[in-house]
Amino acid sequence: MISAPGPVAPGNVEGPELETASASLDRNGNGPVPRHVAIIMDGNGRWATARGLPRLAGHKAGAEAVRRALQAAADAGVEVLTLYAFSSENWRRSDEEIADLTGLMRFYLERELDKLMDEGVKLRLIGDYRAFGPDLSQRLESAVERTAGNSRLTLVVALNYGSRRELAQVASALARRAASGEIDPETIDEAAIESELDTAGLPELDLLIRTSGEVRLSNFLLWQSAYSELLFTPVLWPDFGEQAFNDALEQYSQRQRRYGGR
Ligand code: FPP
Repeated sequence: MISAPGPVAPGNVEGPELETASASLDRNGNGPVPRHVAIIMDGNGRWATARGLPRLAGHKAGAEAVRRALQAAADAGVEVLTLYAFSSENWRRSDEEIADLTGLMRFYLERELDKLMDEGVKLRLIGDYRAFGPDLSQRLESAVERTAGNSRLTLVVALNYGSRRELAQVASALARRAASGEIDPETIDEAAIESELDTAGLPELDLLIRTSGEVRLSNFLLWQSAYSELLFTPVLWPDFGEQAFNDALEQYSQRQRRYGGR
């Protein structure tokens, strides 16, 4: 069966590739499956407070929700799942909570690495993760290396990530290349910017989900979400399971993406 060509997003020089971005059907041949889904995982603290538990308990439950989302994404045929695990603004939290979160990431990384290998998951990082220190950085880098040959799903973890800083770094990189004569400033276009983003080479972001009822992007993937479908759900992140993920994909499949056309 030949599918109708989809709309082409401006700024993507490889338009024909994007046509398939929203045209792949799910396992039952039903609706288009997003190639790239990102999630702002919010509500761990409120989940814990509602149960009279410390915030750490909410983050632990949030880490379990990460496992479920990853499984649901792989089962649905999503190619890339990007998770906002720690924003550049999260340093404002207490030292204790930051230590809890980094400890949890270290624990999760150790416990889940074999599973990521079994499931064919490739790990990729965005953001300035080296701020977490040499120990965690090395563990993260070795996990990236170990999973580099996997191809079923790419899990992108945003660590110490902030979109405005990412864009400032892109500007700085392009300015350096122009100053050295490597590129002509007049030729800097959208593709040149995309090639310097942390997300370079990943498919266009199709669907961005935020849990917990907050309705804002909080400095996450501002460039990349220009044409994404946005979905805000009141569900707190630790309660976000396979059913909630599949409901989000269902809502996505019913949206019509026009990229500014009619
Ligand atoms: C937002 O909830 C969540 C975070 C800042 C951290 C997300 C971390 C995890 C899900 C656990 C570990 C992650 C990985 C990748 C293993 P919040 O604390 O802002 O909740 P609140 O708004 O209710 O206080």
